[in-house]
Amino acid sequence: MNLRAKISAVAHYVPDKILSNFDLEKMVDTSDEWIRSRTGISERRILEDGKATSDMGAEAVKRLCEQRGISPKEIDLIIVGTVTPDMFFPSTGNLIQEKVGAKNAWSYDVAAACSGFLYALASGAQYITSGMHKKVVVVGGDKMSSIVNYQDRNTCVLFGDAAAAVLLEPDEEYGIMDFILHSDGSGAEYLRMKAGGSLYPASLETVTQDWHFLYQDGKQVFKFAVTKMAEVSVKILEKNGFHGDDLALFVPHQANLRIIDAAVKRLGIDYEKVMININKYGNTTAATIPLALSEAYQQGKLEKGDLVLFATFGGGFTWGSSLLRWGMDKP
Ligand code: UT7
Repeated sequence: MNLRAKISAVAHYVPDKILSNFDLEKMVDTSDEWIRSRTGISERRILEDGKATSDMGAEAVKRLCEQRGISPKEIDLIIVGTVTPDMFFPSTGNLIQEKVGAKNAWSYDVAAACSGFLYALASGAQYITSGMHKKVVVVGGDKMSSIVNYQDRNTCVLFGDAAAAVLLEPDEEYGIMDFILHSDGSGAEYLRMKAGGSLYPASLETVTQDWHFLYQDGKQVFKFAVTKMAEVSVKILEKNGFHGDDLALFVPHQANLRIIDAAVKRLGIDYEKVMININKYGNTTAATIPLALSEAYQQGKLEKGDLVLFATFGGGFTWGSSLLRWGMDKP
């Protein structure tokens, strides 16, 4: 018997507070026109002070359990993809476990920047297909506003806060069919948060140099992202004997509409088959794919049996794709 890890529930949480392009025009030298034409973003959500990634993740997990009609006590494992953990330790997974009352679960975090969800999904799927666990929760969540410098127009227009989660359960028919995952640490100089770790612990110097903020060389990252996300999307289809036409839905990482467009062109698929919500949320890092998937599900864009493709690219560099046979009925 060949077990697959099936997504049996999907849910998300976004904060209420909206930061629009027009708000940003008052904060840095930018314009709504520049942001929309270069990125596709109109607004993003900002989590309030005093709340953290685990609060958004916990809300998403509670909604997930309600949707599936299970108690959090039934969860075996929680894996969280994030680069904005509440703190270095305990892990955000540990904090979510406590907040939702998943008393019987163990939990940990995966750090792979924007690819955090796909990396965590690949990890979670292994516990299902091996038969070790029956219910694994995979969360992608980031409070990007906690590491973004709102005086740096190169980055502050791009990011937003959100969390989303999926439940994985064993199935013989539906579920995840394949992953292709990559990393290339030579990308570290182009996208990183330099300080706060063991190399540059917090000091007066790290604070005055702005090393606790996210840094991105947008142009360099763009060049790599635009090629790699398209390449890994096409490759997983070829590897499994499919064509772009076979896809019912493509759920790409939402970093820049132009990067998504490049992947869509390479895949040769219709735009109606691409889930895009970057306009509303910006780049929510590890949350983009499950957030887009959750909205696609709520909007009735997914039918049982549909072939679905995920693709991502992010800091590290990290990138990858996953192919799955959708196994949930419409809501
Ligand atoms: O999710 C993780 C992976 N991240 C990504 O995939 C992001 C990849 N990079 C990008 O999406 C794009 O490179 C950006 C959206 C970050 C930038 O777009 P771009 O078309 O590559 O712009 P650029 O960096 O080449 O900048 C063009 C001009 C520059 O001015 P000069 O040097 O030509 O005079 C920038 O200073 O636009 C200027 N600029 C801005 N102008 C108005 C940069 N940011 C802004 C801004 N508003 N917010």
